[in-house]
Amino acid sequence: MTTLAFDGMTVAPAQAIRGSVRVPGDKSISHRAVLFNALGEGEASISNFSPGADCGSTLACLRDLGVEIARDGAHVHVRGVGVHGLREPSNVLDCGNSGTSMRLLCGVLAGAGLFAVLSGDGSLRRRPMARVVEPLRQAGAVIDGRDGGRLPPLAISPVRTLHGVEHRPRVASAQVKSALLLSGLFADGETRVIEPAPTRDHTERLLRAMGADLQHVGEGLRLTPGRALKCVDVAVPGDFSAAAFWLVLGVLHQAAEIRVQNVGLNPTRTGLLTILQRMGAHIEIENARDVAGEPVADVRAWSSQLHGIPVGGDLVPLAIDEISLVALLGLFAEGETTVTDAAELRTKESDRLAVVAEGLSALGGDIQATADGWRIRPSRLHAGHVDSHDDHRMAMLFALAGALGQGAEIDGAASVGISYPSFWGDLERVVSRES
Ligand code: S3P
Repeated sequence: MTTLAFDGMTVAPAQAIRGSVRVPGDKSISHRAVLFNALGEGEASISNFSPGADCGSTLACLRDLGVEIARDGAHVHVRGVGVHGLREPSNVLDCGNSGTSMRLLCGVLAGAGLFAVLSGDGSLRRRPMARVVEPLRQAGAVIDGRDGGRLPPLAISPVRTLHGVEHRPRVASAQVKSALLLSGLFADGETRVIEPAPTRDHTERLLRAMGADLQHVGEGLRLTPGRALKCVDVAVPGDFSAAAFWLVLGVLHQAAEIRVQNVGLNPTRTGLLTILQRMGAHIEIENARDVAGEPVADVRAWSSQLHGIPVGGDLVPLAIDEISLVALLGLFAEGETTVTDAAELRTKESDRLAVVAEGLSALGGDIQATADGWRIRPSRLHAGHVDSHDDHRMAMLFALAGALGQGAEIDGAASVGISYPSFWGDLERVVSRES
């Protein structure tokens, strides 16, 4: 593996995959741990906080909103200001590449009674925001933005209060659900959210642990405002979305055994495990335990012969950040693999339906993008040059394709810093190049 000028990386074919990896702290839980504790009363310590730039964006925005946060590597200490204690920021809040920062902060700031502008990098400024802006406006928020509020930057104006509203988002999105529930903390009545399909539930778990009145009622969630949030310490589990790369590498390489330690296995995140099991993968869960209200375990994966399957429906939101790996699995499986109901991938850090098809095709993969997924057939990969479009998960996916096939030159390799800065080092450690 060599680093090239201009943010490129060359990955050589792997002869074998061996060893054990400790992935960084979960990105979704880290965002929530620092944001919700900032709104709490008291102080909280967060351990194993994600080293990724995305969670750094949330942390920096909160400091700009007057929250005192001390950070020493993966340890973060937050002094809560209470639900109504944020200070008006003197400059634009920079969410960087992070959709989670922008959407969750939008939900909080909608009712916080201050003026704030949220912006971010070129990728984030192309991502759809109507999904949070429109329902928040229904609750009385005053939010402007580019293209009528569909695109960032977003400017949020102070309002006296928000109203309790029943929301039925059209897209299954944990970011939308979380933004709407958070806005409910500032409302004068109950906020209900009824999702079209289940999505990750870290927000519900942590808000409840902090004492929020958040109940499952009928088909949805009901948040009743008025209770103070108590700061709670959070031990962040390892990120399943990072672990997924090693599990897939372990399953697909024919001389592989790999163990990933301390992985969060919240069932609203592990759709990929279901998919892997259905395709015939060898995966074993070891040392299962509970850490701070989240299931955690070590996971072992080894060489497997897979068969193609159709993937779609409610499984997709449960594997939303891992679905791109199914495209790679399909290239190595017997028979055809299809992915449907995944049009949301077009709205991620890049248009992942297009970028995956373009990149894996450039490496010899037989894959076609459809309106809402891909059609994938068994393929022999060759060496090639691919562009991650500065999307961290695309860079890591193409690294795997290079290691499993005949090598790859990857543009935009530094983007892994968004969620997994030590990815290239970990890859180097588990790959052996001598037979
Ligand atoms: C996230 C939710 C998902 C996911 C993203 C993180 C979260 O986005 O893709 O990486 O932390 O809530 P959507 O809610 O937009 O699907």
